[in-house]
Amino acid sequence: MPDEPLVLGIETSCDETGVGIVRGHTLLADALASSVDQHARFGGVVPEVASRAHLEAMVPTMQRALDDAGVTLADIDAIAVTAGPGLAGALLVGVAAAKGYALAADKPIYGVNHLAAHVAVDTLEHGPLPEPAIAMLVSGGHSSLLLVNDLTAGVTPLGATIDDAAGEAFDKVARLLGMGFPGGPVIDRTARDGDPAAIAFPRGLTAPKDRLKHRYDFSFSGLKTAVARWVEARERSGEPVPIADVAASFQDAVCDVLTSKALDACREYGIETLIIGGGVAANSRLRLLAEERAAKLGIRVRVPRPGLCTDNGAMVAALGSHLVAAGVAPSRLDLPADSAMPLTSVTVAG
Ligand code: KG4
Ligand code: ZN
Repeated sequence: MPDEPLVLGIETSCDETGVGIVRGHTLLADALASSVDQHARFGGVVPEVASRAHLEAMVPTMQRALDDAGVTLADIDAIAVTAGPGLAGALLVGVAAAKGYALAADKPIYGVNHLAAHVAVDTLEHGPLPEPAIAMLVSGGHSSLLLVNDLTAGVTPLGATIDDAAGEAFDKVARLLGMGFPGGPVIDRTARDGDPAAIAFPRGLTAPKDRLKHRYDFSFSGLKTAVARWVEARERSGEPVPIADVAASFQDAVCDVLTSKALDACREYGIETLIIGGGVAANSRLRLLAEERAAKLGIRVRVPRPGLCTDNGAMVAALGSHLVAAGVAPSRLDLPADSAMPLTSVTVAG
């Protein structure tokens, strides 16, 4: 509909420079530049390198998004930008750019929460958010289970990882298997040739005593250590390491815990929709297992297509559009970046 708000979103919280443009729930442009190759040899994102890459990529990515959408900055109704959580220096580049564009074109600005944007992006594919919903966000930096009653008002955290994030576990295990960075996609591919039941790796925080205190929390660091020990033992005994079986069994351990805890939350809160977002939501085993288990419980799973699960500008624009449509006040032009922005704030208040 032409009278729906035209919103531009800027994302720079980690290693992707994203500029997305949406009208209402319709995606018009999703331009992306990634510095992932520059971090590969370090086995993880180097903040200083990411910040410089954002600075270089920002203007061309913005231009590409406007061209792809066939609009100019003057046509835009509001600019949304990730204000946190994320890498401080990386966030500053996006927030500073958004302020410059907002000031130059005299547009309202919304400093928004990156995690809420991972939830909102699903509206671009599946329409308005069914609220209440349970959202599971699994990426390189976070693994959280959230109760979403009203995305414009903030979300209620139910649980989170107490050590490594799910994506971080994929990245670390891929590294110890000599597979490169980022680890998620390569483990996902390698696991297709392996047996998920070949090795019984531990399921963190699922024992009855852990469930009392950590019902919806996750732990993946013990799993990573178990994989390392298993591989070392194999190497010591001179036997070949069955890489595909290790990848498949590790992946299954992560996906088993994630899906069972997310669906437990749906049942406990009487909620019929589970939204999965973040880079790990691109995982084929996670998607399949969630679908299978949810179907048995009559719960609907909404997962955006893989390209929208990893960081991008469209998710920020989608959240901005949701806020504009709900009549939420914009942020002040002097809004700060907040690397530890809490989940209880979806926008930086006006
Ligand atoms: O959301 P995202 O792009 O950035 C963060 O905010 O962290 O997530 C990146 C993470 C990385 O750890 C990467 O290994 C993981 O998502 N990832 C995957 C897959 N694709 C990306 N993990 C498992 N399976 C995948 N197919
Ligand atoms: Zn993310």
